Amino acid sequence: MPDVIYVAHDGSERRVDVPAGRSVMLGAIQNGVRGIEAECGGCLACATCHVYVDPAWLDRLPPAGEDEEDMLENTAAERRPNSRLSCQITVEADLDGLRVAMPETQG
Ligand code: FES
Repeated sequence: MPDVIYVAHDGSERRVDVPAGRSVMLGAIQNGVRGIEAECGGCLACATCHVYVDPAWLDRLPPAGEDEEDMLENTAAERRPNSRLSCQITVEADLDGLRVAMPETQG
């Protein structure tokens, strides 16, 4: 299974096996990774699954859709060029080693 590396705001890291086809958000929630709230359960309605994608990986992800772009305007923490909603990033085999950092706050 591909590994996703979740970097907490304090710099600590968790490497988690996430099955291909599952979202980066679910990989965190199902493995007790803190820093992603996902209040809406992945319905693109909360923006509490905000992450900063490591710039080295950004171009390897499909671009954010229009609805994700709209929701990224509502993040609690500052939006940056590498901001994404983790419920909209699907883990695939070629994303093994993907690094995402959680913001200081989701709410
Ligand atoms: S979990 Fe709510 S927008 Fe991603």
